Amino acid sequence: MRTPLIAGNWKMNNTEVEALSLVRKLIQGIKSLTTVEVLICPPFTSLSQLSKLLVSSPIQLGAQNISDHDAGAYTGEISPRMAAEFCSYVILGHSERRAYYGESDALINRKTKVAQRADLTPILCVGEQLDERERGQAAVVITRQLQGALQGVKLSDPSGLVIAYEPVWAIGSGLSASAGETADFIGGVIRPVVSGLWGQEISQKIRVLYGGSVSPENAGGFFTHDEIDGALVGGASLSADSFLGIIEKAS
Ligand code: PGA
Repeated sequence: MRTPLIAGNWKMNNTEVEALSLVRKLIQGIKSLTTVEVLICPPFTSLSQLSKLLVSSPIQLGAQNISDHDAGAYTGEISPRMAAEFCSYVILGHSERRAYYGESDALINRKTKVAQRADLTPILCVGEQLDERERGQAAVVITRQLQGALQGVKLSDPSGLVIAYEPVWAIGSGLSASAGETADFIGGVIRPVVSGLWGQEISQKIRVLYGGSVSPENAGGFFTHDEIDGALVGGASLSADSFLGIIEKAS
């Protein structure tokens, strides 16, 4: 049995004051978390204060990005060790970073390796564009992204990596992928690639999330499929009510 993970990606939203207010509401709303793991990924500027607020809460913190270097003269960057002071996870390969900041599979591969060295669990995002899907290329694209980002990455414990399948056309668009198709894609494409890298057992134990316009209304449909181990939630993680609604569907 894989424990579902519900991760909120706040993106570039919420000042520290706003972050504290939102997380206070989440803490109140989450009574006991035994069947689902909950993670929020705020901007770096709120991590320190939120880590204090969450000290006795089961809600975990993640980073939205890290440098591909361990330390040194890289102006403006945040090192994996700095993020790991507050975070247990880091989102890598998000489609917005690929599209707006030119992140390549090679760069994501380096970030994956430095994250592991700092004891941060990568949440590796992969996803096809709409035209790639329409041309029947989704499986090829996802396979290339996974193999590129994970080349030479060692994994002996399946909890050391999470994969998030996020079709790019579904992110922030209100158009989610169909739950059945997503489950088939995870079982038919993503787990076999993982099996090729690290074997059958890891491929069955590793968690694969869905992301792209997840809401309290559609979340239940995804979580009825065994192949889908939770969600990476963008827009709906910015409201306590809707994020709590999604967590409730998973638990
Ligand atoms: P969305 O974003 O839920 O707003 O579609 C998902 C994501 O970018 O991870």
